[in-house]
Amino acid sequence: MRVQNWIKSPEYAEGAAVAFTKNFTSDGSIVRATLHVSCLGIYKASLNGKKVGRQVLTPGITSYDHRIQYQSYDVTDMIKRENLLIISVGPGWAIGHYGLIRSYNMWGKDVSAVAELEIITADGNTHYINTDQSWQVYTTEVTYSDIYRGEKVDKTAEIRLIGNALEAKSFPLVPQIGADIIENEILPPLELIITPKGERVLDFGQNITGYVALNIKGRRGDRVALSFGEVLDKDGNFYNENYRNAAYPVIYILSGEPDCFKPTYSFQGFRYVRLDEYPLDCIDLSSFKAIVVHSDMERTGYFECGCAPINQLYHNVIWGQKGNFLDIPTDCPQRDERLGWTGDAQVFCKTAAINFDVRKFFKKWLGDLRAEQGADGSITGVCPEKCAYGFKTRISAGWGDAATIIPYTLYEVYNDKSFLSENFDMMCKWVEYMRSTGPEEFLWLTGFHYGDWLAIDAGEDSYVGATSADLIATVFYAHSTRLLVKSGEALGKDMSEYRRLYENIVKRFREYFMENGMPRERLPYTEIKTYPKSTAGDNERRGVTQTAIALILHFDLCLPEERDALIDKLASLIHEFGDRMSTGFLGTAYILLALSECGRHDLAYTLFFQRQSPSWLYSVEHGATTIWEHWNGVKEDGSFWSVDMNSFNHYAYGSVAEWMYGVICGIQQTDVGYKQIRLAPIPHRDLGYAKCKLKTVSGEIESSWKYNNDSIDFEFTIPDGVNAEIALPGGYTERVCGGKHYYTV
Ligand code: BGC
Repeated sequence: MRVQNWIKSPEYAEGAAVAFTKNFTSDGSIVRATLHVSCLGIYKASLNGKKVGRQVLTPGITSYDHRIQYQSYDVTDMIKRENLLIISVGPGWAIGHYGLIRSYNMWGKDVSAVAELEIITADGNTHYINTDQSWQVYTTEVTYSDIYRGEKVDKTAEIRLIGNALEAKSFPLVPQIGADIIENEILPPLELIITPKGERVLDFGQNITGYVALNIKGRRGDRVALSFGEVLDKDGNFYNENYRNAAYPVIYILSGEPDCFKPTYSFQGFRYVRLDEYPLDCIDLSSFKAIVVHSDMERTGYFECGCAPINQLYHNVIWGQKGNFLDIPTDCPQRDERLGWTGDAQVFCKTAAINFDVRKFFKKWLGDLRAEQGADGSITGVCPEKCAYGFKTRISAGWGDAATIIPYTLYEVYNDKSFLSENFDMMCKWVEYMRSTGPEEFLWLTGFHYGDWLAIDAGEDSYVGATSADLIATVFYAHSTRLLVKSGEALGKDMSEYRRLYENIVKRFREYFMENGMPRERLPYTEIKTYPKSTAGDNERRGVTQTAIALILHFDLCLPEERDALIDKLASLIHEFGDRMSTGFLGTAYILLALSECGRHDLAYTLFFQRQSPSWLYSVEHGATTIWEHWNGVKEDGSFWSVDMNSFNHYAYGSVAEWMYGVICGIQQTDVGYKQIRLAPIPHRDLGYAKCKLKTVSGEIESSWKYNNDSIDFEFTIPDGVNAEIALPGGYTERVCGGKHYYTV
């Protein structure tokens, strides 16, 4: 954008959307016309009555103080002789309620817009139309909108000229980096439920992120009010207390003519929609549609097997990603958070990158993470971090490590070194941050940590698990340092200093946290603080937990000769806990991988097939269509685990799909970008068959197997030029390059 004139309305009614308008004429000799637009808030641009572009919720969310994206649209075919350009802007993330302490007006008090229309005419000249004080501002039919608090569209509202635009504060602009946010799918309601309380509730059959569109004709001034929920309560009534401060309706006021409604500046997370107000006697289901909104990402991973609940689990992982990859990786799409939690993003990143092509999506968010990194190298729990205002001190192991884990994972999956070169400084600074905290250079024993978030081994009501937060912190310190070394080496840098640092961290980890090859049960009390709502005091955390051992094994913090005893200990902890996991956000991401890496696929499958909570299939058996935040979100008796931390669309535990692709179907990369692979499926009779396809940057890889009485048939498709080591159950191995390969064992 050549000229960046930001404009605002002379008056602004809190929560409303306003329309910035410009009339212009054109002589028709246009070769090319491009519209560049952005705003503080969320905008919708239209030219001569038609929406410009396919994107919604533009300009998306970034760390607005550092940068706001602008979009560029080819509008050549939309220009006529007499033209009306309208840029309507609602409050969105920047102005409305958003953030951990439900902040308001975080980036400004009123919405503003900036645009430039660039027209190249046949005579070779370029003409510009820029936002300036000649633009007129009108009220709109959207009289209220808020990310957390719904939207009110009033088709009877008088559209009034407010006046000429005023100059507004400018923000740094960048061309769009992220993936387009688009309306991806449309779901019809499956049924209308009349609940025991007599509520009228539409069931869309799938927990989604997006909004409800409605076609309706009624009397002028009639109202429709829609409330959103993810689950019904144990009696079958509508429930959305878990939305906390975001349990607000969307309201449509009818014009008297046939109306089409949908929100423009907000989105909701829901499966059920309660018709709080509905003016017509007959509810025609075909007039409602759920529109699924998320960032545009090409689907690249597919998995299917012969066990319906596992297919549902996989479906839930995919929908967890769709629901939470709306411009930033959000923890959940419904309650008063929807924030870019760094820990959630890092544990799920590998799965995300196999499921979908997330290069653009993460490239943008990593840019914000870099921009917001503290001068001391700190990375906070949430990005954009302004939304975590008041919680800034919460810099936690396993969360801040998004700075190293995500760039490295993206490099690994896509063989794109730009993820390393762009983020190398951030990775270094994060490692230096950990190195400089507290008196111990090679241990991380200070600060605040979320720990093994939502693990239940410290008691069912605790928000933080029993694993020592110091141990977790030092594990991630080691892991991040190792990734930094690998990244630097991939970039051709001398990493010997950081290699020594890594070796020292591992050495000190083993001295401090381990004894005779096992983690110490009781650890010295340190200064680490965890989240207040946890039953185990900070000084009561332990070294011998499922999470601790899984982390030690997976991140290689033990000697090879110690692995057997550790895996036996992990197995006995699992058995003692009823063949179940007791892990939270950090342990769950690695426990199946750790078991399989040690050859204990049997035990990994035991956890995978477990139906009692904590387990993945527990939520499936309780009707989940996305991944739950808490293992016990709905308890056996149908009551809810808690009101305030109980999302039913939280993708973190969906990281299990990494194990499904990599172990059940056995597609493992042994080189970046799947240039070399290992195909080592581990079949299980209860699955009957399994098949998986990955569209990688090296080509399409397929792996499938099927039980055939007592034998198993395997089939692999390997892209040309890709070397694969095939390793079948029973010990047969072979090296092949490209092509289709069949085996029976
Ligand atoms: C979020 C999580 C996040 C956590 C930090 C929660 O409120 O929803 O997903 O990682 O806080 O512990």
